[in-house]
Amino acid sequence: MDRFVVRPGDSLHGTVSAGGAKNSALKLMAACLLAEGRHVLAGVPRIVDVEIMAEVLEAIGAQVDRGPDGPHGGPGDLVIDTPATLVPEAPYELVEKMRASVVVLGPLLARTGRASVSLPGGDDFGNRPIDIHLHGLSTLGAVFETVHGNIEGSVPGGAEGRLVGQRVVFEYPSHTATDNVLMAAVLAKGTTVIENAAREPEVSDLADFLTHMGARIRGAGTSHIEVDGVDELHPSPQSHRVIPDRVVAATLLSAVAMAGGDIVIEDGRPDHMDMVLRKMGDLGVTVTQGPEGMRATSTDRLHSVDVATLPYPGVATDYKPFLVTMLSVADGVGIVTENLFAGRFRYVDELRRMGADIRTEGHHAVVRGVRRLSGAPVRAPDLRAGAALVLAGMMAEGETVVSDAQHIDRGYEDLAATLSSLGADVTRA
Ligand code: EPU
Repeated sequence: MDRFVVRPGDSLHGTVSAGGAKNSALKLMAACLLAEGRHVLAGVPRIVDVEIMAEVLEAIGAQVDRGPDGPHGGPGDLVIDTPATLVPEAPYELVEKMRASVVVLGPLLARTGRASVSLPGGDDFGNRPIDIHLHGLSTLGAVFETVHGNIEGSVPGGAEGRLVGQRVVFEYPSHTATDNVLMAAVLAKGTTVIENAAREPEVSDLADFLTHMGARIRGAGTSHIEVDGVDELHPSPQSHRVIPDRVVAATLLSAVAMAGGDIVIEDGRPDHMDMVLRKMGDLGVTVTQGPEGMRATSTDRLHSVDVATLPYPGVATDYKPFLVTMLSVADGVGIVTENLFAGRFRYVDELRRMGADIRTEGHHAVVRGVRRLSGAPVRAPDLRAGAALVLAGMMAEGETVVSDAQHIDRGYEDLAATLSSLGADVTRA
């Protein structure tokens, strides 16, 4: 089993890149199903979730390759060839590995009038239903039933049938439900309005890509999105560069916040990270934007703050394990409230094993900062919490071994190499 071995090191210095955003790349890949032909995506991270999504697309009939292939492709670009005829099925073996596979539902219904997608599994942090996705797609005319663990969706009229634009009101601004309905609406007959849409930068990136494919979308990035359906889309004439990963950027900021030092994230996008940067400032980290990128410096012990997670532009739930880890060594007491995912405090037990003083009560955690953590064997319960435990190890006396490293590989290209390049003592064993 793969693990990270972490020892305390010096302060961090150097320049790194966050890389392309996982939660954008996965949706852009699914969007390629909407048009026959060759699509080129630049800056797609080399992570396990992207490999799983490539397998999903291949099961559906597309071909996915890396390489300088095609007129616009560059080295390392992801080239997706979508055929005229698709197999509208996402099999259990793949969806079970990655819940985000559910974003093929909208494109398949729009393109083929049919979709069979296994009910998603995914991260181990609580019940994650897809009722909002199904409500949105049903409003556009899709009909669903659950058969043998699969969601079987169809559009009345079969392969010739089309979804019909409607006003869709989301009960909650679900990120992937917004992606799914947006991708369905671009080929629907008439105008779709999505109210209470998710406002994440990754939704705007998807809308930009779809627009380059010929879609007509207004308002992406706000909670009111309008889509005028078109009869057909085409591959974007230019390769599309995935926006940088704000959660990876926040991981690196958290690392320097705790270890101290001075780093530059060359592709950091502060305009995508307003709230978390404000919290970083309150904790005592100085973040500035210059021509070289996003620069973060930290020299003193962090000060505790209170944090509540909220849908974008609030503090994202994905940042929370890093915030809790920072608070565990900060001066004072911080209260952290999780408003999105019920079970997303499981890693707290692992931090406690490292000497953190954290009490959880329902969806709140009270974190009393200690001066130093103590290295221990711990287990990565999910992607972000796993990365946070690696950072905790950098602040702990002695050696920390983070097992179940495969969770971390889902969203980080090579976390050990990135942190080591800044001077941390982190290796992969
Ligand atoms: N929800 C429902 N019904 C639905 C959909 C969501 O009740 O049909 C609930 C969820 O159970 C949860 C809340 O709504 O309590 C938020 O879910 P949302 O749908 O917004 O999250 P998501 O789209 O499933 C994406 C990211 C997550 C990120 C969240 C919040 C992807 C692939 N995943 O998930 O990222 O935490 O938005 O921003 O885009 C990660 O990268 O590891 C990750 C988990």
